[in-house]
Amino acid sequence: MSSKGVRISRGEYKAVAQRMKALQEQQKKIVERMGKIKYKIAIMSNKGGVGKSLVTASLAAALAVSGRRVGVLDADVHGPSIHKLLGLPTGLGMPGRPDGTILPVEVPPGVKVASLGLLLPEDDTPLIWRGPIKTSALRELLAYTDWGEIDYLLIDLPPGTGDEQLTIAQLIPKLTGFVLVTIPSELSKAIVVKGLGFARRLNVPVLGIIENMSYFRCNDGSIHYIFGKGAAEEIAKRYNIEFLGSIPIDPRIREANDKGKIFFLEYPDSEASKSFTKIAQRIIEIVEASAEVNK
Ligand SMILES: Nc1ncnc2c1ncn2[C@@H]1O[C@H](COP(=O)(O)OP(=O)(O)OP(=O)(O)O)[C@@H](O)[C@H]1O
Ligand SMILES: [Mg+2]
Repeated sequence: MSSKGVRISRGEYKAVAQRMKALQEQQKKIVERMGKIKYKIAIMSNKGGVGKSLVTASLAAALAVSGRRVGVLDADVHGPSIHKLLGLPTGLGMPGRPDGTILPVEVPPGVKVASLGLLLPEDDTPLIWRGPIKTSALRELLAYTDWGEIDYLLIDLPPGTGDEQLTIAQLIPKLTGFVLVTIPSELSKAIVVKGLGFARRLNVPVLGIIENMSYFRCNDGSIHYIFGKGAAEEIAKRYNIEFLGSIPIDPRIREANDKGKIFFLEYPDSEASKSFTKIAQRIIEIVEASAEVNK
């Protein structure tokens, strides 16, 4: 570096200024779009494979069944799966308008879905993207998806506390909160607490924690705690957050997911679906009551 320091050319300055302007326009769009959605809730866990996507899909269906207008945004750029849990095939596409707006695909019982998984040609097509490109894809989904007027937007996050989580937490104004998901294992318990720390650092409320794969009930009624017992309740007590409920292991969940069926709708009388209904009701109580108070 010379003693005069680094200089950028007029052309470079213009390019940076144009990029900044485009980003500001995009952020304006995000604020506008998100302003039309009453509650924005992200489902998170630092641990992979604990059932975040199942929880997102099932809560979305449960909220829609209870009369709420619901959207689901897949923020799992590398492993989008929520479209399949909501019965949509990879590669289906999302309708677009000439002005560049993307329209989510609607599935019964009235859940709107936006996912990069709908845009990929095949399930095994990898997206080999570094952080900035992932962030930019998520920004575009947030800025250009027209959800219309909906009550709830549920966001399915990948595991961890990286680009996707930061993008969602920082770009969505007034994120209503995170819902944490864990399984009862000691390992998952230790890792999910990091998500709690992340939420607190970013000043996003934690609406509560759900324990998935809590137990398995045999046909004879006996209960088996395959992964351990009581982890979410313990975390809830220790960190002063709400324990929202537990979901049992049910092999039909995996079967329905693999077949592209919505488990919650296929087996409404299952213990798991009843639990999802209760959890959805509790989330409605928490967020809609506090919205009333803040009016
Ligand atoms: N309670 C359950 N009973 C039986 N199978 C389940 C249950 N919860 C989730 N599964 C199965 O476990 C697998 C992982 O679930 P899911 O994809 O929802 O987890 P995830 O946390 O979103 O994973 P990732 O971190 O990869 O995004 C899926 O095959 C799903 O069908
Ligand atoms: Mg997932």
